[in-house]
Amino acid sequence: MTNIASPLFPLGLQRPAYDLDAWREQIPLLDELVPMNNCSQSPQTHATRAAGERYLESWGRRGMDWDAWMEVVRLAKQEFARLINASEDEIAVFSSVSEATSALATAFDFDGPRDRVVVSEAEFPTIGHAWLAQERRGAEVAWVPVRDGVVEIDDYDRLIDERTTVVSACHAYYLNGFTQDVAAIARLAHARGAFLFVDAYQSLGTVPVDVRATGVDFLAAGNLKFLMGIPGIAFMYVRAELNEQLTPLATGWFGRADPFAFDVTHLDWASGARRFDMGTPPVLNAYIARAGMQIINDIGPQAIRDWLIVLGQRLIDGGRARGLTLHGTDDMARKTATAAFLVDDSHAVEEAMRARGVLPSARGPVIRLAPHFYNTVDDVDLALDVLATVVRDS
Ligand SMILES: Cc1ncc(COP(=O)(O)O)c(C=O)c1O
Repeated sequence: MTNIASPLFPLGLQRPAYDLDAWREQIPLLDELVPMNNCSQSPQTHATRAAGERYLESWGRRGMDWDAWMEVVRLAKQEFARLINASEDEIAVFSSVSEATSALATAFDFDGPRDRVVVSEAEFPTIGHAWLAQERRGAEVAWVPVRDGVVEIDDYDRLIDERTTVVSACHAYYLNGFTQDVAAIARLAHARGAFLFVDAYQSLGTVPVDVRATGVDFLAAGNLKFLMGIPGIAFMYVRAELNEQLTPLATGWFGRADPFAFDVTHLDWASGARRFDMGTPPVLNAYIARAGMQIINDIGPQAIRDWLIVLGQRLIDGGRARGLTLHGTDDMARKTATAAFLVDDSHAVEEAMRARGVLPSARGPVIRLAPHFYNTVDDVDLALDVLATVVRDS
């Protein structure tokens, strides 16, 4: 199905392919507020709360239930794998995307002829920092520019060369939702013998992502944004064929072939992406993360994307109609539904909107309105009205 507006099918009457009302009943926060800050933190659901309580119950009543806890971590990896069309043994678990990226960066050598890392300026700062920290090990970072809020593929073409080890490209730009064609970037990188690392934190949960179809080598994301989870957990995909070639300098006992061998004098490597696992995994977070990702997988990323195209277009058109200035592209084919509007003092605007019942997300010069699968056209209209009023009155 398609949800693109047509004159025969007025926007206000449109519905997604799933039962929107039933899903909204799963989100208590909707009784009080309109969350449009899913690019920062998505709301709690009955399912994620129950998952957290299952861990607390197990800890409270059993003291320690190690095997059951590790099984949930494994199932959380499996759920992440399902989201991106990977297999469970291609997924490593971390406490943040920063940690995942930093561990990955240490798996490359930069003291040979391939000393270059090509990084987009659209990366979340932590990603740039993880690569810049490798300069001490001989890396040279080349920056792919952001121009007018977007990144052009020609700039990757210009910068990726025979000296490039890895290209680091976000799927969606955290500032305004602009999405990069990661399949095209993968083709360019591979043609020149480089790998592609993708930070999908701002897209996963809102659009279908298929690591096999796109040829991405590594992909990381955390769970508190569109994956309906909480801070303190993140996952990284490492393409199966690459695992055996790579060993990170940042490691821990869960990266060993048998963590419970307790062999302090030997460093061996687990097969698969598990070699990137660090220390004791974030168990409580894994319970909640798994439940959040199940929601996305159950609804289906394509059905979510179809609905978010409707809401994203509504934000673009409605923002324009209210005299707001959009940051970046207005082409929904090149962006997520996150809409960023330029404001003078984004933190003050966020506070003022929150006081009027709408949760936006301030980032630098913009206020972001980031709807998710459970939002309605009315939510979008209300958020735009409140933003326009706050901007006018400030
Ligand atoms: C695209 C993107 N990558 C990374 C991060 C930060 O990840 P972490 O705090 O898990 O290191 C964010 C947080 O806002 C983000 O939007």
